Amino acid sequence: MPTALITGATAGIGAAFARRLAADGHTLVLVARDESRLAETADRLKLRYGVPVEVLPADLSAEEGLSRVESRCREGVDLLVNNAGFTLRGRFPDNAVEDELRMLKVHCEAVLRLTLAALPGMKARGRGAVINVASVAGFFASSSYGASKAWVINFSESAAAGARADHVRVMALCPGYVRTEFHQRASMDMSGTPGFLWLSADRVVGEALRDLSLGKWVSVPSLRYKIVVSAGQLLPRRLVSRLSARIGR
Ligand SMILES: NC(=O)c1ccc[n+]([C@@H]2O[C@H](COP(=O)([O-])OP(=O)(O)OC[C@H]3O[C@@H](n4cnc5c(N)ncnc54)[C@H](OP(=O)(O)O)[C@@H]3O)[C@@H](O)[C@H]2O)c1
Repeated sequence: MPTALITGATAGIGAAFARRLAADGHTLVLVARDESRLAETADRLKLRYGVPVEVLPADLSAEEGLSRVESRCREGVDLLVNNAGFTLRGRFPDNAVEDELRMLKVHCEAVLRLTLAALPGMKARGRGAVINVASVAGFFASSSYGASKAWVINFSESAAAGARADHVRVMALCPGYVRTEFHQRASMDMSGTPGFLWLSADRVVGEALRDLSLGKWVSVPSLRYKIVVSAGQLLPRRLVSRLSARIGR
């Protein structure tokens, strides 16, 4: 049975990955901070899908938590899903520098270190994959959140190029708006966001796994967000930045 380690596996996109990968017969290693929620999630998955589920409570913004998950990745996983993430309520430069650094630690340092820890085992076995959850925001210069996700996209493409010869896949997953706990956790009022812009976490995961099997390096779920990303790449960068800052407001 292949083993999948998913960070941020108790809610939203990470929980959808856990359900889908369990249904596909993966052994799971679930990472998040809230221990009781992790245990409940693991029990539900074991009962429903009959797969082994390991829990690894860890705060990826803290050195101790991150290095424990890093060690688990070194022991060997077949699929790593670097999904844990959050956004900040305030806009740059109104947030405390500690909060900005915490976001970079979870979005960039954790993604870098867990990928580095998992890749050697995958390369030695000649199979394996890493999915790094970025965002459509990573294609637009609109916030420090978007800047951290731009790093995830660029890093994933570089890692994908380097791992290809060893039959290991690395892919950045770039969703648009997804109905999860993400915006509520940052106390963001999303009531003005049109309904057609929202995707379900299950759909995002389904498209991501299909794109991974096709060997894509970057996955942008849904036609509507593929159009948004392509249009953003065709227009002048300054104009796109101004428009995305206005939409962000
Ligand atoms: N929702 C969207 O519209 C959207 C769009 C594009 C990209 N994304 C990206 O998708 C990913 C998942 O977001 P989501 O929407 O599914 O969010 P979510 O519903 O809020 O779930 C976040 C998950 O991450 C865990 N987590 C948060 N901080 C953590 C930390 N420091 N250490 C370990 N685990 C942590 C949470 O569990 P605990 O609180 O127990 O730790 C939870 O399991 C993120 O990287 C986000 O940036 C989301």
